[in-house]
Amino acid sequence: MRQPDSLRVDQRAEAGPYLSVSNLVVKFPSEDGIVNAVEGVNFSVTRGKTLAIVGESGSGKSVTALAIMGLVNRKSAKVTGEVWLDGEELVEKPDSGIRKLRGNKMAMIFQDPMSSLHPFYRVGAQLSEAARTHRKISKKAAREEAIEMLSRVGIPAPRRRVDDYPHQLSGGMRQRVMIAMALINSPALLIADEPTTALDVTVQAQIIDLIGQLQSEFNTAVVIITHDLGIVADIADEVAVMYAGRIVEHASTERLYASPEMPYTLGLLASIPRMDRETNRLDPIRGNPPSPLRHPDGCVFHPRCKYTDRVPNRACFEVRPELLESERNHLVRCHIPAEERRRIATSVLGAGTGGGAAIATAGAGGTGPAAPVGGPA
Ligand SMILES: Nc1ncnc2c1ncn2[C@@H]1O[C@H](COP(=O)(O)OP(=O)(O)OP(=O)(O)O)[C@@H](O)[C@H]1O
Ligand code: SF4
Ligand SMILES: [Mg+2]
Repeated sequence: MRQPDSLRVDQRAEAGPYLSVSNLVVKFPSEDGIVNAVEGVNFSVTRGKTLAIVGESGSGKSVTALAIMGLVNRKSAKVTGEVWLDGEELVEKPDSGIRKLRGNKMAMIFQDPMSSLHPFYRVGAQLSEAARTHRKISKKAAREEAIEMLSRVGIPAPRRRVDDYPHQLSGGMRQRVMIAMALINSPALLIADEPTTALDVTVQAQIIDLIGQLQSEFNTAVVIITHDLGIVADIADEVAVMYAGRIVEHASTERLYASPEMPYTLGLLASIPRMDRETNRLDPIRGNPPSPLRHPDGCVFHPRCKYTDRVPNRACFEVRPELLESERNHLVRCHIPAEERRRIATSVLGAGTGGGAAIATAGAGGTGPAAPVGGPA
């Protein structure tokens, strides 16, 4: 396995974020109209840090990730905005240029384990191929790397399992092979899209631990995508909450849990059990996300929001809120004034929430919103 070229890389990391996404928009034309999947997303991630992107199904998390990786088909979709990876802009880059970076500088663990494993090839052959695509090493050396990587991700008897086909492995094992595949070239950016879906709780915890261990070893910038706020608290430095293709709140994890402000985030937090709140009544968000073919006017969350009457002049129904700084490094997209948002949060989530809660914003060198951030019109 290639060792991280840490000195050179660390010097670069100090210079700024490794990944920076600016006003990313992805639209898919369809027979029914235009699917507005991603509507102007901004964030950045530094090496060694983890950003979690959370949100309900259909909020645009995977499409954001696929667009970063250059995996949205640009013939059938419209991708605009900027994606900067280690000083290179990717949205305008030809596919051949992106292929050189994918699996090498950046890698992705896909939502569906079988989507990156070919059913007809042995896992060892697939891992070796991933290594040899980007580096000049012999077949023998690549096979040894594959075995070592399988061992690193916790596959028992890797020298034997290296010759297994994907279908011979359990779901958890396949997920580990995918992680091995993503990490075999020590990418500086890892995007993990729901890496623990469909796994039992123990395996989930092992996979999350493993990503954390490999991150500290290779100083990887990690973007983890999930709809599960429960797993985020332990692993992410920052959280971006997505709704209908937009980031609606972005803060350090500590801050987001201690003092959430956007009503959608409150809804997500109120619908998971918490150990650190006096109030522990579960209260799921009513209704469903809007169709991506027709986002509502005003605030896209307004059909589900309980607080539209707190904002004068029907602004929730007519004016798109922008993503604005509530505190340093805490961005919120909501018309309600910050003080009142915090009061609402306290009443919804119980003691421990609100303006008086401990504030821990990410300092320099963390992940971060690409401020100033304006929401799309
Ligand atoms: N290739 C495509 N063509 C048309 N629409 C698409 C395509 N890919 C995704 N979409 C639509 O874009 C929207 C965002 O999808 P995305 O897969 O990013 O959601 P998600 O947040 O990852 O959801 P989940 O939690 O279910 O994985 C959805 O409405 C989806 O149906
Ligand atoms: S802008 Fe209005 S509808 Fe949107 S979250 Fe705030 S209060 Fe709710
Ligand atoms: Mg998804």
